[in-house]
Amino acid sequence: MNFENILTETNNGITQITINRPTKLNALNKDTIQELHEAFKAADKDKSTKVIILTGSGEKAFVAGADISEFANFSEEKGGKLAAKGQKILFDYVENLGTPVIAAVNGFALGGGLELAMACHIRLASDNAKMGLPEVSLGVIPGYGGTQRLPQLVGKGRALEMIMTAGMIDAETAKNYGLVNHVVTQAELIPLAEKMANKMMRNSSVAIAKAIKAVNAGLEEGKNGYKTEIKQFGKSFGTADFKEGTTAFLQKRTAEFPGE
Ligand code: COA
Repeated sequence: MNFENILTETNNGITQITINRPTKLNALNKDTIQELHEAFKAADKDKSTKVIILTGSGEKAFVAGADISEFANFSEEKGGKLAAKGQKILFDYVENLGTPVIAAVNGFALGGGLELAMACHIRLASDNAKMGLPEVSLGVIPGYGGTQRLPQLVGKGRALEMIMTAGMIDAETAKNYGLVNHVVTQAELIPLAEKMANKMMRNSSVAIAKAIKAVNAGLEEGKNGYKTEIKQFGKSFGTADFKEGTTAFLQKRTAEFPGE
């Protein structure tokens, strides 16, 4: 696939997607959002991809937000449509992907950038990373799920402080808040993401997809997470991965999951 704003590379079960607009600090314009949708969709379908790593190019930014120059003169209606489409094709899409997505936050993750990292299943950060939702400083509110996912991850009080002050927190604070799982140097960031991906790859990808579904259901309005868990748990018993996983354990050997 030919992309203008992102780079993709697949090696040893990992697809790395890199947002590649470094002169604009990887800000998310419309085309980038569309390309990311296509890249995530393709990686999720590709049987050779077991884990996706998302990062930003350059040493300064993961993503410095939605591209402000694109929406500065939007009407109410256009603003609403922008958020609705973005949430559907990228932010909700990534969160509900069956393939695990690790965000490697390598610098500024602001506005839509932090919202994108929060839509990923796991966040790792480099020690220079800075995170925030500065939208109210522009007279707007987070529109790509930030008002929902930030309180889920850090609690309502901390989320409202970040949103209402429009301030940035550093990587260590983000770790203390539970917003990122680990903080390492920039050079160690992708190797750490790969190490984590390799650990995931030893497990059943089918079971992982079901676990993502059950965890997400508990946070989704109108869904009962416990019921989803029971359903997905039951369905696991019909999979070849379950047969292989339990048989390998009883035979005291390493499982070779067929991914079915
Ligand atoms: N949308 C569009 N362009 C952006 C952008 C965004 N969200 N964030 C950065 N850029 C562009 C800048 O306009 C600049 O482009 P130019 O060189 O053509 O003028 C380039 O990226 C570099 O940014 P600059 O502001 O010069 O870098 P800096 O190191 O001085 O500051 C930030 C870095 C992240 C503090 C600053 O760019 C910033 O505040 N960005 C906006 C963050 C934001 O409000 N995001 C939420 C959007 S809803």
